[in-house]
Amino acid sequence: MRVDAGLFVDGVPGALRAAADCLAAAAGERTGPYSGASPERLAKVAAGIDPFPEEGAGLDAALAGLGRLSLRHAVDPAHPSCAAHLHCQPLAAAVAADALAGAANQSLDSWDQGPVATHLEQRLVAGLAARVGWDPAVAGGVVTSGGTQSNLMGLLLARDATAGRSGRDVAADGLGPDAGRYRIVCSELAHFSVARSATLLGLGSRAVQPLGVDGDRRLRPEELDRALDRMDAAGQVPMALVATAGTTDFGSIDPLPALAGRARERGLWLHVDAAWGGGLLFSDRHRDLLAGIEAADSVAVDFHKLLWQPAGCGAFLVRDQGLLAPLEVTVPTSTPTRWPARRTAGRCRIWSAGRWPPPAASPPSRRCSASRRSAGGPSVSWSTAPLRWPSRPRPRSTPSPAWP
Ligand SMILES: Cc1ncc(COP(=O)(O)O)c(C=O)c1O
Repeated sequence: MRVDAGLFVDGVPGALRAAADCLAAAAGERTGPYSGASPERLAKVAAGIDPFPEEGAGLDAALAGLGRLSLRHAVDPAHPSCAAHLHCQPLAAAVAADALAGAANQSLDSWDQGPVATHLEQRLVAGLAARVGWDPAVAGGVVTSGGTQSNLMGLLLARDATAGRSGRDVAADGLGPDAGRYRIVCSELAHFSVARSATLLGLGSRAVQPLGVDGDRRLRPEELDRALDRMDAAGQVPMALVATAGTTDFGSIDPLPALAGRARERGLWLHVDAAWGGGLLFSDRHRDLLAGIEAADSVAVDFHKLLWQPAGCGAFLVRDQGLLAPLEVTVPTSTPTRWPARRTAGRCRIWSAGRWPPPAASPPSRRCSASRRSAGGPSVSWSTAPLRWPSRPRPRSTPSPAWP
């Protein structure tokens, strides 16, 4: 195959300039949060497009046609009248950094396919863990595609830990006869990915017991007590409590300290779905709304909601990296890897939103190990504020990061 100059990475600067022109032209055409085109009209337009033509049209034609079309009929999360959904307008720096991450195209399924990206992921996870209130040298996690995947991972670990207590290795032997008795408790306002996860995990969506909420739309701890008593009496095995920190439709935060106490007393895995509310981890004014999150076994945080990143960008965190063991996979020809494999190095854009490394005037730093999986990794100075919720004015000019 002949490869023309400009077809691959060497053509990226020109391609990005063309994409930027396309974006500017489309922005000039917009008059509101949505074009108003009906589903029927868009279906008709889409039906006229050949997804795999014999001859490619070339970038300019593709941008002028499909590119403009996609932007013209996209919903505009930057428009003031587009506030009803959780997906945010992305930061410009994040979009640019996403393009860089795409150009480098690192894969995190093994160290050799994304060497520096692997370490950056670990630093990102450690920084988030510190914000949750965990010891970053002990906690672990991975970057995910978002809350759905993070919730699935939390419930998978909860399921395997429950089965492990009765001596069953689900990863090796599959679900045992007890699995039919496993139950997941959460509020009736928990995200639907909890029920979907139960289905994917072979437990069935009926394993999820949605509980009533109070006038502020927060799970009632007394309801939880009653439900757990009922389950005990029925011989069911409560395996996880999912607390939501930021319900999808209302933003309500379940009473984390009270739920954490119950989870501890009953030996329940506590997963906090902070896909939406996780942005509060970076708030100077509202961080206390997440008090109690540090008692969780696992946490889901999304960057593509109130942390202003393009989708899909989330993180799944565990208080102790040893809890990730059921997800470890060793293949003979490669280095150890961890599900989810084949993830891109999108954390580059997360950092582009913050000051990194921190300027000398930053608040007192805390120490953590940069690389826990690579023995003997260097110790680094860790800013308590790589990203900031926009509650405080930020200095206008920040020094450029000095990457090694
Ligand atoms: C509370 C909550 N959890 C999980 C999710 C799923 O997140 P994602 O769309 O990133 O998979 C959402 C999405 O809106 C949510 O609001």
